[in-house]
Amino acid sequence: MKVVAFNGSPRKDGNTAILIHYVFRELEKKGIETELVQLADKPVHGCIACEKCGENLDRRCAVKNDAANEYIEKMLGADGIILGSPSYFQDVTPEMKALIDRTGYVSRANGRMFRKKVGGMVVAARRSGAIHTLDTMSHFFLSGEMLLVGRAIGVGREKGEVEKDAEGIELAKSLGQRMAWVLEKLHA
Ligand SMILES: Cc1cc2nc3c(=O)[nH]c(=O)nc-3n(C[C@H](O)[C@H](O)[C@H](O)COP(=O)(O)O)c2cc1C
Repeated sequence: MKVVAFNGSPRKDGNTAILIHYVFRELEKKGIETELVQLADKPVHGCIACEKCGENLDRRCAVKNDAANEYIEKMLGADGIILGSPSYFQDVTPEMKALIDRTGYVSRANGRMFRKKVGGMVVAARRSGAIHTLDTMSHFFLSGEMLLVGRAIGVGREKGEVEKDAEGIELAKSLGQRMAWVLEKLHA
C-alpha cells in the first residue's frame, strides 16, 4: 500500500513538510509506503478551462507543459492521498489551489477517478486561517468521493517552529494512525 502527500508550501522542508513526516512515520510503522511531493520543486499552473479533459476522457490533463500529469499518475498509483498547505491569507497557497484545480477537474471529467482513495489533510499556520485552509482542501476529497479520514493542524511561523507545538505533532501522528487503520481495513 502507498500514500502520496503533496506539500503545497513554496518553502521546502518547512512546517507543513515536518507535519507530513509525522503522519508518514505512523504509516511506515504499519508497512505502508510513503512519498512526499514538494510542489516547490515543480509547481503547476492553474486550470485554463480548455475542457479538453472532458473530451479526451484519457484520465490526463490536456495541458502537458508542467507536472500536472505526473501528479495525477502519482495519485492514481496511491491508495491514500494527503494534501498539506500552510495558511496563506487564511487559505491554501496558490501552489496547492492549482494542484487541486488541475488534478481534481481531470478526476471529475473521468468519472471521479480517485473515488474511494483514503484522504488526509495537514495545515501549518502561524495564527489564523487553518480551518478555512482545511475547508478548501476538503473539497478535493469530498467532491472526488474519496474517504476523508481527518486532519492535523500545527502552529508555527519560522521553519521548524512547529516542532514546539506538541498538540499539533500529536494530531499529525493520530492522523497517520487512523489513515493506516482505514487502509488496513479496506485492503484486508
Ligand atoms: C504570504 C504568506 C501569508 C501568510 N498568511 C498567513 C495567515 O493568513 N495566517 C497564518 O496563521 N499564517 C500565515 N502565514 C504564515 C505561515 O502559514 C506559517 O509561517 C507556516 O508555518 C508556513 O509553513 P511552511 O513552513 O510549510 O511554509 C503566511 C505566510 C506567508 C509567507
